[in-house]
Amino acid sequence: MCGIVAYVGDKQAYPILIKGLHRLEYRGYDSSGVAILNGKLNLYKRKGKVNQLEDFVENKDINGTIGIAHTRWATHGQPNDENAHPHFSQNQDLAIIHNGIIENYVSLKEELISRGHKFLSETDTEVLIHLIEDIQDNEKLDLAESVRVALNQVVGAYAIAVISKDESNKLIVAKNGSPMVIGIGDNDFYVASDATPIVEYTRKVIYMEDGEMAILEKGKDIILKSVKNIIHTPYFQELTMSLDALEKGGYEHFMLKEIFEQPISIRETMRGRLRLGQGIVNLGGITEYKNKLMNAKRILMIACGTSWHAGLVGEYLFEELTRIPVEVEYASEFRYRNPIITEDDVVIAISQSGETADTLAAIKMAKEKGATILGICNVVGSSIPRETHAGSYTHAGPEIGVASTKAFTSQVTLLTMMALMIAHEKGSITNSRHQQLLNALDAIPNQIEEVLKTNDFVKEVALLYKDSKNALYLGRGYNFPVALEGALKLKEISYIHAEGYPAAEMKHGPIALIDEQMPVIVIAPKKGHYDKLVSNIQEVKARKGKVIAIVTKGDTEVRNMADHVIEIPEVEELLVPLVATIPLQLFSYYIAVMRDCNVDQPRNLAKSVTVE
Ligand code: G6P
Repeated sequence: MCGIVAYVGDKQAYPILIKGLHRLEYRGYDSSGVAILNGKLNLYKRKGKVNQLEDFVENKDINGTIGIAHTRWATHGQPNDENAHPHFSQNQDLAIIHNGIIENYVSLKEELISRGHKFLSETDTEVLIHLIEDIQDNEKLDLAESVRVALNQVVGAYAIAVISKDESNKLIVAKNGSPMVIGIGDNDFYVASDATPIVEYTRKVIYMEDGEMAILEKGKDIILKSVKNIIHTPYFQELTMSLDALEKGGYEHFMLKEIFEQPISIRETMRGRLRLGQGIVNLGGITEYKNKLMNAKRILMIACGTSWHAGLVGEYLFEELTRIPVEVEYASEFRYRNPIITEDDVVIAISQSGETADTLAAIKMAKEKGATILGICNVVGSSIPRETHAGSYTHAGPEIGVASTKAFTSQVTLLTMMALMIAHEKGSITNSRHQQLLNALDAIPNQIEEVLKTNDFVKEVALLYKDSKNALYLGRGYNFPVALEGALKLKEISYIHAEGYPAAEMKHGPIALIDEQMPVIVIAPKKGHYDKLVSNIQEVKARKGKVIAIVTKGDTEVRNMADHVIEIPEVEELLVPLVATIPLQLFSYYIAVMRDCNVDQPRNLAKSVTVE
């Protein structure tokens, strides 16, 4: 978590840094800060969001063409002014920003205290910058070398940027476990946790590898090396991201924009891959591993949060279409329970950010045990795709709202394509069924456009339930994960307690909660256990619960029972999650807005969870 930005060159650093912090605020937003060199080392930091920092620095000296900035999600120490980054060294000649955790900071701190160091914060980061200065003073090394020696004493994850009053054209950066991108300008360097703060200045970037550091000096070429002091040749890549994707484009919130983008994002996921004319799915990134996947004894889907819900839909899809057994695992549980993994297992890691610490650690473990690891990620160049054997990007475009929407439907789309590709190769479905499903998948973006037309109606329903204390989401089969995802969306952004349940399980507990105050959202399309769901709706109504049902267009039976019905087009049962999810996203969105919640940056959450 935490977002870092840094700049060195001939432009004014502050506007670049502050804009970059806004772009990275999704990574954490409990405090932020900036340090700029201009003869003096001016450092300003504040508890709260980036705009609070902006207010704070008004009328302060922010001149300078080299600087570092940080937006924080607290790990060590409360979110307050002292613990905010950047941090000064003991004599305030050096400043650092850091994303990650220094695990051995306690012993390092004790050692430094015994040598007279005094600390102003409770953070692990401040210990690191004191250590760097201590090495610099004692061993008479330059800044880069002091950073390098210090990093060799550090255990943990980091992406850091360091500046020094004495070497005022130099930015030293290093990465291990936390992401770091370097943008190469004409006469300058841009550094950030992801490419979004960089893309408007340059498209030429380097994604740093673990254990690497770089010396970025104005007017000079980059020096890239390992922390063990071996020079590396930089591998430059070209950014393809569009700038528009990073703006709200007239919507009030990123989340609403991203909900409405889904017809486009799903088309992007399918573009060039779903080839109707040829009757095939071509996922270039995993071609080499097609046989491995076809012959897998078992597929393990590993993910966290919303991506885990996509994995659950994937389980239903893969088992139905390919007949390969699937297990879906929370990465955090999987990695700590000594699971049985064999060389015949294929692991599919699903992650929007490609940075989730638990997912990353889980796949490293499975890889060590010989499994084949495939990735389904959205952020190009992120850590998970670089750790996998192969994979496919979802290409949903940058997702800025902390609550995931378009990334989820793109993950489900990609899983559907993967399952269809394998099923077709294996012959576990007939050619005609395969073609029928390809056609049906291809039609989904247009059908989502239809669903989005329920927007105003969903908003009216949301108004009736905005003050609810609890909500229950029910679904069966493919729509059980949709129920979980619907509940998670409501919980994360509106702070209403919500639970998703397999509809039949309601009788084993949640039914006790139902009264006239309780909205029960039931996903009840015509295809897939419809009669059973009708019975479940009757059970809720018999207890005076309020039913909001997602039904197939033209449905009359549920309409007669439910308090509200939201219609979705008739689609194949296995594709219902892609359309049924949309009204649930809108419902949560409007409830959160009506409750005056910060939709794009819900309290305590972060989009990219890089700590376990
Ligand atoms: C956080 C985000 C969720 C996301 C989850 C997994 O909790 O707030 O929206 O689903 O992390 O993230 P990933 O990037 O691995 O999909």
